[in-house]
Amino acid sequence: MKKNSPIGIFDSGVGGSSIWQEIHKYLPFEHTIYLADSKNAPYGNKSTNEITQLSIKNTQKLLDLGAKIIVVACNTATTNAIVALREKFDVPIIGIEPAIKPAALQTTSKSIGILATKGTLSSALFSETTRIFTQDISVVEIIGEGLVPLIEAGNLTGDEMVSLLKKHTRPMIDANVDYIVLGCSHYPYIIPQLKKILPENIKIIDSGEAVARQTKTVLQSLNLLRIETSNPKLQFYTNAKIDTLKFLLRDYDSKITIEKIEF
Ligand code: DGL
Repeated sequence: MKKNSPIGIFDSGVGGSSIWQEIHKYLPFEHTIYLADSKNAPYGNKSTNEITQLSIKNTQKLLDLGAKIIVVACNTATTNAIVALREKFDVPIIGIEPAIKPAALQTTSKSIGILATKGTLSSALFSETTRIFTQDISVVEIIGEGLVPLIEAGNLTGDEMVSLLKKHTRPMIDANVDYIVLGCSHYPYIIPQLKKILPENIKIIDSGEAVARQTKTVLQSLNLLRIETSNPKLQFYTNAKIDTLKFLLRDYDSKITIEKIEF
């Protein structure tokens, strides 16, 4: 029965579990399967072709595991590969992109910052969205070099993280931004640390909730929402060590399973 099949979610690693948390909040009865391709992380410095091949591999694995819908919980994979995924696979596919539009609509300083991977910032999809929504706004684009490997290692608060965040946000602060868009699904995990560094007037936006809302809307419109309200199966698979996922998802410990598998 398709309605009872799981939502399949993948990311280059552990970061998309921040998106999973939003999806689980919006759709608490849905079964979910999450794939962390940590063995191949980070995707951010890879070519579009490599990112596309890895995204196809992950999508195929989720479909083999019975997913009824795919959520690409990775900005880098979405901006580089979602067109190819939608051409290749005949299932609904939801992507995540940096929340430029809300930041552009709400900024009063007319200056916004975007922190994302090189792969996202250099993609055609990102350039097009930025061109459409930021015509009269200055945009400071910063590659979050070094952040994903630290988050993959579960290092959210160490000295190295603090100095990288200071370095990456300096040009944004200097440009008087009032919004910083987090364009990578790993970054919501460093919001507490970012808040300690940033002046209070700077707001941080990410796309997690929007993706969860969109996932619900699409499942509803296709009549694919799960009917039962018994506890859902919440499965996490990684192809590297399980430690960081376990740490990031410690609040869900009794509800989820995390396993290492090959894919
Ligand atoms: N979490 C990913 C994103 O949203 C990619 C991080 C990476 O692997 O470079 O962009």
